[in-house]
Formats: sequence, C-alpha cells, structure tokens
Amino acid sequence: LFSAVEMAPRDPILGLNEAFNADTRPNKVNLGVGVYYNEEGRIPLLRAVAAAEMARLELNAPRGYLPIEGIASYDMAVQGLLFGADSALVADGRVVTSQALGGTGALKIGADFLKRILPDAVVAISNPSWENHRALFESAGFPVQNYAYYDAASHGIDRAGMLEDLKNLPPRSIVVLHACCHNPTGVDLLPEDWKQVLDVLRAKDHVPFIDIAYQGFGDGIEEDAAAVRLFAESGLTFFVSSSFSKSFSLYGERVGALSMVTQSREESARVLSQIKRVIRTNYSNPPTHGATVVSAVLNNAELRAMWEAELGEMRTRIQEMRLTMVRQLAEKGARQDFSFVAKQRGMFSYSGLTAAQVERLRVEFGVYAIGTGRICAAALNHNNLDHVTDAIVQVI
Ligand code: LMR
Repeated sequence: LFSAVEMAPRDPILGLNEAFNADTRPNKVNLGVGVYYNEEGRIPLLRAVAAAEMARLELNAPRGYLPIEGIASYDMAVQGLLFGADSALVADGRVVTSQALGGTGALKIGADFLKRILPDAVVAISNPSWENHRALFESAGFPVQNYAYYDAASHGIDRAGMLEDLKNLPPRSIVVLHACCHNPTGVDLLPEDWKQVLDVLRAKDHVPFIDIAYQGFGDGIEEDAAAVRLFAESGLTFFVSSSFSKSFSLYGERVGALSMVTQSREESARVLSQIKRVIRTNYSNPPTHGATVVSAVLNNAELRAMWEAELGEMRTRIQEMRLTMVRQLAEKGARQDFSFVAKQRGMFSYSGLTAAQVERLRVEFGVYAIGTGRICAAALNHNNLDHVTDAIVQVI
C-alpha cells in the first residue's frame, strides 16, 4: 500500500522547528515560526489566561461536546473584537461566526464551504503570502494565483501592480487579504489603499477573504481591525478568519474563528447551517478549553483589561527589539541599511536576506529563519540579539 508513497517536502515553517529542536548548539535562535517569545526567551502564559484557567479548574466542569459552531459567548466575543462593540451588522444578524481550529482551521472550513458555492473560482493571494495560504486553498481544490503586493526595492507596497492584478482576475475571484501585520513582509496597506482595493473588489464582484491572525500586534486592537470595519461598512459579503494563537499566546490550544458577513439574518441562518455540515464532516465539533478561556477573559472587564495590557506589552517589546536590531546592525557596520525593519508591523520582518544567507545563518550560527528571508522579530530579546546581529553582519 505505501510502497509508492513519496516523501513530502518538509513544511517551510513548522518543518524548521523540527530542525531547530534537533540542534544542540546552546546559542541557537529560532526566528522561523511566528511565535512570540518574551524577554526570557519563553512563550508566555498570559496572566489573564492563567487566572481564567484557575477559575475554570475550580469549577470541575464536565467536558461534554460543544455545539458544532462552538461556544456562543466565544463567537459573540469574536464578533465584538472584529466588528466593534456596537456593530450594526452584528445587531442585524448579518454576521455568522463559528469557532475554528485556529486561523488555519478557519481558513480551511471557509475554503471548503467556498468550494461548494463557487466551485470554479480562482483564489488570489498576495505575493508573497503566508506559505500555507496557497497550500490550503489548493488542497480545497482551487487554482491559486498571486497578486502583486510587496515591492522589494522600496520595502513597501506595489500599489499600482496590486490594483492592476486585482482588476485582471476573473470576476468573482476569491481574494485573500491580510488585515494587519502582513505575513511574511510586515508591510501593511494604508487606509487609503484599503479604500482603493475595496473599490476594485466591489467592481469585479470578488469575494474578500480577510485573514486577521495578529490583531493587537500592529497598532492596537481597534486600529488593527480597521480594514474589517471598512469592509463591514461597504455592504459587501465577505469572510474573515481570525486567531487567538498569538494574541492570547494559546498556540497549541487551536483557538480561532471563521466569520462571514451576509446580506440578512435569514441568509446567515442558511450559511451557518452549511458551515456546520463542513465542520461536522471534518472534525465534528471544536475543543472546549481554549475558547472557554478566551471567552472568560473577553467577557470579564477586569480580565479583559489585564489581557489588553499584556498584549500592549508584547507589541511594545517587539517594536523595541526592531529598533534595537536596526541600531545594532548600523553600529556593527552592516553593509546594508536595515532601517525599514523599524517601520514594519507585527511579528515579522521581510529582511531581504537571500536563501543562501539564511542557510549560512542556520549552518554557521544556529540562527533559524525562513528561506524567503522572513524573520520573526517577536523571538528577539536582549540576550540573543547580539548573536543574531553579529551573524547577519557576517553573512551579508
Ligand atoms: C507562521 O507564519 O509562522 C505562523 O502563522 C505559524 C504557522 O502556522 O505557520
């Protein structure tokens, strides 16, 4: 049965973790996967999360099955974060939200549902995009193409190219957009860009699929949802995949959500019924722990304030590491200007390092980055930064 099964290539992101874990060098640094590490180099257990977990443990709650679409209070809290506390859309029953297995799980159930209702559509992702976007939509059966996004020369956005590519897609294409903290570049659209993108999507009847996995890591919780809010006001029908992996530091608990904006409460009911079928035939219903914790935090004023402060601390620390990295590289005489790193948003920095330079970083210095040159600035700290900047200066 398995004699002809070929070896699959290693996952470009999670596969690197395996290599990192096997590396015995004491000064190794993992700048590969998108995970926030604190100043001590550890994945933090947030205080708000720990408090909610303690309270939950004390209840000795039974572990029955959840509804297929997850915990209602969790789904409503997700809607509040994405669409705003006073969202008219939510009040009108035009948003359907289902708990999902992280942001990836949300993308997957959204993609499977879209394949049923738009079987011949093309999916367009930014060039570059998160590695798994292409794989995920291809595995749902869609052809996937790129739209122009990053301009390496300016370390900015190729605005004209992006709008042109979106215009040239077949009508009713599915367009995957990063709401904030673009993965992998760290370069986001400006508010006026979003308006132009929205106009093209509307004119071409495209289906926006907004991925927001880093809400709160850019400029703030509300600020980072600006694109979602803009689309919400537009009257369009669209999808949003969201994740608490990073913002609650709950990676392994797989806590995310898929939300869909419909045209009416009645349409929402039909859409939810289909999403439930997709979930039921994939994994039946979601796990309890992570979403219970997130719901407890978001629905309690004190815990929520604690979480917002902790998220703010993570955001500020990443920004500080970006600035320190830029300064150190300049002080160490790097032959390139890295000041663009300080302007990028979120966890990632598209460093401009080549695949060969990334390879040298790993082999010679135990510094792990993605082959495309993406580094996770959220894994830098005052203990490892010197080693990382030394290594970068050497390889360039
Ligand atoms: C990343 O881009 O590194 C994260 O989103 C983790 C993942 O699942 O790839």
